[in-house]
Amino acid sequence: VRKVRTHHLAKWKSEGHRWAMLTSYDQYTAQLFDEAGVPVLLVGDSAANNVYGYESSLPVTVDELLVLVKAVTRSIQRSLVVADLPFGSYQRSPEQAYDTSVRFMKEGLAHAVKLEGGAEMAPQIRKLTEGGIPVMAHIGFTPQSEHNLGGYRVQGRGDASQKLIDDALAVQEAGAFAVVMEMVPAPVATEVTSKLQIPTVGIGAGAGCDAQVLVWQDMLGLRSGRAPRFVKKYADLRSVISGAVDQFQSEVADGSFPAAEHSFES
Ligand code: KIV
Ligand code: NA
Repeated sequence: VRKVRTHHLAKWKSEGHRWAMLTSYDQYTAQLFDEAGVPVLLVGDSAANNVYGYESSLPVTVDELLVLVKAVTRSIQRSLVVADLPFGSYQRSPEQAYDTSVRFMKEGLAHAVKLEGGAEMAPQIRKLTEGGIPVMAHIGFTPQSEHNLGGYRVQGRGDASQKLIDDALAVQEAGAFAVVMEMVPAPVATEVTSKLQIPTVGIGAGAGCDAQVLVWQDMLGLRSGRAPRFVKKYADLRSVISGAVDQFQSEVADGSFPAAEHSFES
């Protein structure tokens, strides 16, 4: 696959080929993940926490995300780049969602957008897809609704599993090409995955999904503080970086940096 398209993701589902998605917000991670063959990169509104230093995803703006989307799309060759629509930029109406998404596609050169919500977002999803903009949906725990959902909690447990299934079917029916499921019981996510034609992308949703997504600063151990249960740390970049910075400082202090090879002769 020279350039990943939404139809490839559909084909991979029918072949039972699982794939990974990662967030990216800058040039170097975009290059690295693209070269590693990660088929889908998400410029998530999690940039709020992981780039801008906000406590939640709610404060981040379209303009703040747009500059990151541009950096990522300028840096990739093959990956499909999905831009997250931030809180308040699409919920009001399908027209608002369309205007915001056009900015991400036209100015950001994104290949698709992602928005949070199930059946209630069907009009937005339909408007976007009919207007030429592929949509990834996001159901289960939706961080932009943290205050409505009573904090970070698993969604779709017990009787609520039917609502999750209905939401998944509704976003598919409205035209979404994939759906993220966040923090839902593994058996429910597996059931949704088997009921849907479009791929499911899990985060805290068990191994039964068609794909998995993680925030790169979480999976590479750059994040400070305790990570959620669903995060697996594949590297410890915090200790790599702080070790290197310590060494730099001590070599500056003891005069061993810069050495002759880092210096210019007269
Ligand atoms: O913003 C984000 O990083 C996300 C993923 C965790 C799905 O929405
Ligand atoms: Na997000």
